[in-house]
Amino acid sequence: MKKKELEILLQSLHSFENPKAQWEQYITPANIAATILFMAYTLGDVESKGVAELGSGPGIFSIGSCLLGASEIHAVELDKDAILVLNRNISETNCSSITVHHNDVSKFSIAVHTVFQNVPFGSQKRHADLPFIKKAMELGSVVYALHNGATREFVIRNYERLGGKITHIRNFEFYIPKIYNFHRKERVKRSFLFLRVDTRRDNLK
Ligand SMILES: C[S@@+](CC[C@H](N)C(=O)[O-])C[C@H]1O[C@@H](n2cnc3c(N)ncnc32)[C@H](O)[C@@H]1O
Repeated sequence: MKKKELEILLQSLHSFENPKAQWEQYITPANIAATILFMAYTLGDVESKGVAELGSGPGIFSIGSCLLGASEIHAVELDKDAILVLNRNISETNCSSITVHHNDVSKFSIAVHTVFQNVPFGSQKRHADLPFIKKAMELGSVVYALHNGATREFVIRNYERLGGKITHIRNFEFYIPKIYNFHRKERVKRSFLFLRVDTRRDNLK
């Protein structure tokens, strides 16, 4: 599959229907998800590998991993409404290799080769990103993560403190639609830090 084909398929997925502010629910745009997924695919981190998407929401990285041939995929999400959308996306893409876990990420415990995560910014709940960093470092061999660009030093310091080696770093900017009452503009441009982290653990999946 070409990257453009993947992007078009990801664009057709359903998004959050009732986004909840306390969990900072917005999706990764299809072009950015396709760029990250293709990078992971090229580096050998997807095909025939075990994958987890922490805070999956509607599951763009889970579905993308399925379409790129991951062997088993775990989508972890605490919001039941988001899981309804995720299940619809799974059934419409025939991605039966995805297992859905209705749970807090801190309680998830299946080791995988690759973790994908677009973590909460932490603007609703201070340091809401930390449980994601800790869990990804505990369970994955490599981590592909999007974080609030403004927390760059904090995020890198925490991955490194837990033994991670940053192998790739890049900035992305994208618009988050007006989904919350406290947003005054129709859409807000935010800056994101993308990291690929080698956790230096071999989880053999
Ligand atoms: C920024 S959205 C990303 C959604 C999706 N992964 C994507 O990239 O489009 C973050 C997701 O994490 C979920 N979430 C937030 N805190 C969580 C937690 N502690 N455990 C599980 N899911 C959580 C939210 O409900 C939301 O669906």
